[in-house]
Amino acid sequence: MTQQLVIAQPDDWHLHLRDGEMLESVVAASARHFRRAIIMPNLVPPVVTEKDAVAYSKRINQALNQHAAKHDFTPLMTLYLTEQTVATDVVNAAKNGVISAVKLYPAGATTNSASGVTEINKVMPVLEAMAEHNIVLCMHGEVTRSEVDIFDREQAFIDDVLAPLRETLPELRIVLEHVTTSDGVDFVQSQPSNMAATITPHHLALNRNHMLVGGIRPHYYCLPILKRGDHQHALMAAATSGDARFFLGTDSAPHTANTKESACGCAGVFNSPNTMSTLAQLFDDANALDKLEGFTSLHGPKFYQLPVNDAKMTLIKQTEPVQYETQIKAGDEHVVVFDPGQALYWRVESIA
Ligand code: NCD
Ligand code: ZN
Repeated sequence: MTQQLVIAQPDDWHLHLRDGEMLESVVAASARHFRRAIIMPNLVPPVVTEKDAVAYSKRINQALNQHAAKHDFTPLMTLYLTEQTVATDVVNAAKNGVISAVKLYPAGATTNSASGVTEINKVMPVLEAMAEHNIVLCMHGEVTRSEVDIFDREQAFIDDVLAPLRETLPELRIVLEHVTTSDGVDFVQSQPSNMAATITPHHLALNRNHMLVGGIRPHYYCLPILKRGDHQHALMAAATSGDARFFLGTDSAPHTANTKESACGCAGVFNSPNTMSTLAQLFDDANALDKLEGFTSLHGPKFYQLPVNDAKMTLIKQTEPVQYETQIKAGDEHVVVFDPGQALYWRVESIA
């Protein structure tokens, strides 16, 4: 018997679309399934001004228009917070409807984060203005001090940066992006509803053994890095709990295969093409299919104070594993699509 699931069309609350040729190659994979996406600003150079965000948004729409299949897709733009960011510029960009959030990268935390923040106090005036004007702060939640072990960096960030910030500025709406630990889940659960977290499909599907046992798998290397199995289980429990503070951010972050399969490989997993199949499978395996819509389609709009999408996505469970593309072309190179490490039986049938 075929099983069918109908949910409000999902959104992606954390997405890297890149620029130029790569943007053209990857944008359709997101637009095919997601109605909106929060677009990460870590280009080189980063998206720091309202003008940059307008121009980048135009490039995204142009790239989309080059594809034959037409999709309704709205990029929700963000600004990259630097120590030079001026509070009134951020407030104006939000008032003009250009941006939906501001992204904080601790300097050096991840791909293209060199212009990030070295110390939170240096951006307090901007954060205060954001709190006053109801502007969302998206945080990459890892410290970058070299003495802190890479597996402990999220926990250290919560203790050193996030918890104190919640004390000093409780009105600021914050998303702890791509939460990866039970500590992060516990912290968000201890907070009121103006603090939320996104979770990626790969952190739900995998733990560090998948990346490191029996050989090193560079396509599973991402930041924050995959953690132990008990953290993975805590993330699954949060995602399937129905708690509106947790919602989908794919963190789909394409890099060409040769830059990942390298002596010093880049961090990032490209999962846009099979995110919905992966999530439906994981939620099905956890007997929690009734919680999928909340996670992918309801909790995010609620937090961002936007309407739920009108269109419905129909997913079908088939008897044979779903065949999806394992790589996509990007110029002369290719990007490897996320391998969830298990057969997926759910596929997106239609959006209407
Ligand atoms: C992201 C990228 O490549 O831009 N990489 C990743 O591993 N997630 C950056 C980020 O979100 O940390
Ligand atoms: Zn990211």
